[in-house]
Amino acid sequence: MLNNKVIVVTGGAGLLGRRFCVAAAEHGGLVIVADLNLVAAERVAEEIRATGGRAEAATLDITDTDSMNALIASLHDRHGRIDSIVNNAYPRNKKWGRKLEDVTYVDFCQNVSLHLGGYFLAAQQFALYFRAHGGGNIVNMASIYGTMAPRFEIYAETPMIMPVEYAAIKSAIIQITRYFAQYFKADGVRCNALSPGGILDQQPEAFLQKYNSHCGAKGMLEAQDIAGTLVYLLSDASRYMTGQNLIVDDGFSL
Ligand SMILES: NC(=O)c1ccc[n+]([C@@H]2O[C@H](COP(=O)([O-])OP(=O)(O)OC[C@H]3O[C@@H](n4cnc5c(N)ncnc54)[C@H](O)[C@@H]3O)[C@@H](O)[C@H]2O)c1
Repeated sequence: MLNNKVIVVTGGAGLLGRRFCVAAAEHGGLVIVADLNLVAAERVAEEIRATGGRAEAATLDITDTDSMNALIASLHDRHGRIDSIVNNAYPRNKKWGRKLEDVTYVDFCQNVSLHLGGYFLAAQQFALYFRAHGGGNIVNMASIYGTMAPRFEIYAETPMIMPVEYAAIKSAIIQITRYFAQYFKADGVRCNALSPGGILDQQPEAFLQKYNSHCGAKGMLEAQDIAGTLVYLLSDASRYMTGQNLIVDDGFSL
């Protein structure tokens, strides 16, 4: 589905990013595992190459314009094209994850800037590249918490919380997805959001039981359960889809 497409996955060394890179390579793409953590990105790229896929690691800080432009320039030099960017990195500062009462103004602003600002920068710079080179495809990772109110009761009696910044960031990502789609739709640049529910990652059993009670066939999904929808959004099967937000959560948000 992705034969010969050059696909950049930011945060490609992370929980979802790694699975996305593996899936995109399995479908014939040349995957650029772009991450702040180059060592971890190299590991993912090596793992893909070891099974016959095509992948390269690249260092990228999504909050740094020079880093973004250096990546775009070097990819264009080496491959002559870039087809897609998956905005998937997950920057947060050291105070991330505090409950509402303990979030300071400074930390709120910093986390929103890092994550939402970084997604804006990546979408902006890649969209400008795509417009100048005949088109391209942006997928922004959002979340069910960009559209639904948190179910705070499922976090009770666990150390976990749903950060207030996350609601601000992800709802804004869904809306700038529409903005970019509209702004660039005459230029062959499309832009969609993908909103997973929670992803299985050693959460406490008590939390999982409560979370799963709101789901359908499986309960909390694994990274690989989201990858098929990403491949679809990156492929020509979704060629005329733009400005949309696809939710994949086994029914949790219904
Ligand atoms: N894990 C979930 O439950 C879940 C659910 C819904 C949506 N999401 C979204 O999916 C995306 C990926 O989440 P994840 O759980 O795989 O994250 P993760 O923390 O496992 O991985 C994030 C990756 O981003 C990299 N990174 C951090 N700051 C960066 C920067 N400034 N520049 C480049 N790379 C940077 C990290 O090194 C890491 O490899 C995020 O947008 C997240 O909000 C995650």
